[in-house]
Amino acid sequence: MPAPNIDTIVSLAKRRGFVFPSSEVYGGLGSAWDYGPLGVELCNNVKQAWWRWLVYERDDIEGIDSSIILHRLVWKYSGHEATFHDPLVDCRECKSRLRADKLDLPADAVTEDDVSELIRKKLVKCPNCGSNDLTEPRPFNMMFRTKLGAAAEEDDPTALAYLRPETAQGIFINFLNVQTAMRRKIPFGIAQIGKSFRNEITPGNFILRTREFEQMEMEYFVKPDAEHLNLVEEWVELYMEWFVSLGLERSNLQLHEVPQEELAHYSKRTVDIMYRYFPERDEEERQWEELMGIAYRTDFDLRSHSSKPVDAEGNRVNQDSTEDLSYFDEATKQRFYPHVIEPAAGVNRTVLALLMDAYSEKTNDKGETRVILKLSPQLSPIKAAILPLAKNKPEIVGMAKAIKRSLQPVLRAVYDDTGGIGKLYARQDEIGTPFCITVDHQSLEDEAVTVRDRDTWEQERVNIADLAEHLQKRLKP
Ligand code: GAP
Repeated sequence: MPAPNIDTIVSLAKRRGFVFPSSEVYGGLGSAWDYGPLGVELCNNVKQAWWRWLVYERDDIEGIDSSIILHRLVWKYSGHEATFHDPLVDCRECKSRLRADKLDLPADAVTEDDVSELIRKKLVKCPNCGSNDLTEPRPFNMMFRTKLGAAAEEDDPTALAYLRPETAQGIFINFLNVQTAMRRKIPFGIAQIGKSFRNEITPGNFILRTREFEQMEMEYFVKPDAEHLNLVEEWVELYMEWFVSLGLERSNLQLHEVPQEELAHYSKRTVDIMYRYFPERDEEERQWEELMGIAYRTDFDLRSHSSKPVDAEGNRVNQDSTEDLSYFDEATKQRFYPHVIEPAAGVNRTVLALLMDAYSEKTNDKGETRVILKLSPQLSPIKAAILPLAKNKPEIVGMAKAIKRSLQPVLRAVYDDTGGIGKLYARQDEIGTPFCITVDHQSLEDEAVTVRDRDTWEQERVNIADLAEHLQKRLKP
């Protein structure tokens, strides 16, 4: 039983230290969220699992970490300056700023012209006040602007820079560096995890759509004549399996073929993996939102950033680049721009899906309902909680603290004696700790402890000397 809605997770996340509303002491900042002690662990575990899966366990992927602020020309030639727009609509009545494509529109309103026509005919309503007095859509560039250097004048165009709206461009401009430094032959991929920024018109739904978020992107470089569409399918399948291996229910995932007219400017084909973030909605098709996308970006980016390509008149298309990002294939003695398959996932959307899917409730013998967060143990923020059965017994407390210290070098362990054992178990269940280790009077005699399983509540006796190995075995993904 996953969480019934996002609000259930918002409340759990705040109460138990996963995610807090940002800048709360000043009334909050709409779309911003801060990750607390458990949230940062969960995010780190997701990112580590991804990195391990792609960079360590495969032989064909390298990792990098590029700058957030890149040269402005990167965003000119990537096409983002000209096309990274959302259609903005204003409500003249309540002054709300709205995304035209997120308004309540008939299914056959596909293009911006369709939406303009409907707005002109007063057939579209503001979702906030119900007025039909809306402006026609106009493009709003979503890149955050900043200025470089202390001496920059307010309108100095040479100082203009952007916070990156995708991590991908840092990979493309480093393609040749990585390929030559690591002596790579295609096919190979470059992976990167990092923050991206988009000035979203309507952020919302907790950490689903924010203006600052984290991406896990990988650009996979292949020959121009590779079977691109099969490669898209292959990566879709690999990611579906990966999400399921992290604990997501297959039935809460679904694929969405992005229609041609909605493709990003660089994409020939994109398949989105959708998660059921809104199970409470009656209409099935409104329950889903994008978790990640797998795009076939062709050679668009490497070609755009290269100095050599020329137009029909023989003039260089990119007048500013000093490099040619083509690849020389030793085997065929051919030079070409590799084509790219890009699986692009969001850390925050993955974390939200995992929290929703892991949420469950169970009733104990006393008829009390308990929340259990059934996170995959590899992702749980805390792996083991060491709980003394009697906190007024110095020998038991001493032994419990010593066990915690001995586990710390190999896994994340905490000690807690701030309640009765039932309460302590409940607290750990609610944050997804897979194992509670209870130290009791018997432990002083037999040098063994009770290991309680989060999901089954079953208990088994384990020798303290074998405890670390026992837990590590059970924590293996
Ligand atoms: N490089 C391709 C790219 O950026 P995208 O579909 O725009 O593609 C990839 O973004 C993923 O990044 C999305 O599937 C989503 O998980 C995450 N993402 C994008 N915008 C986001 C936002 N405003 N808030 C949270 N996550 C976001």
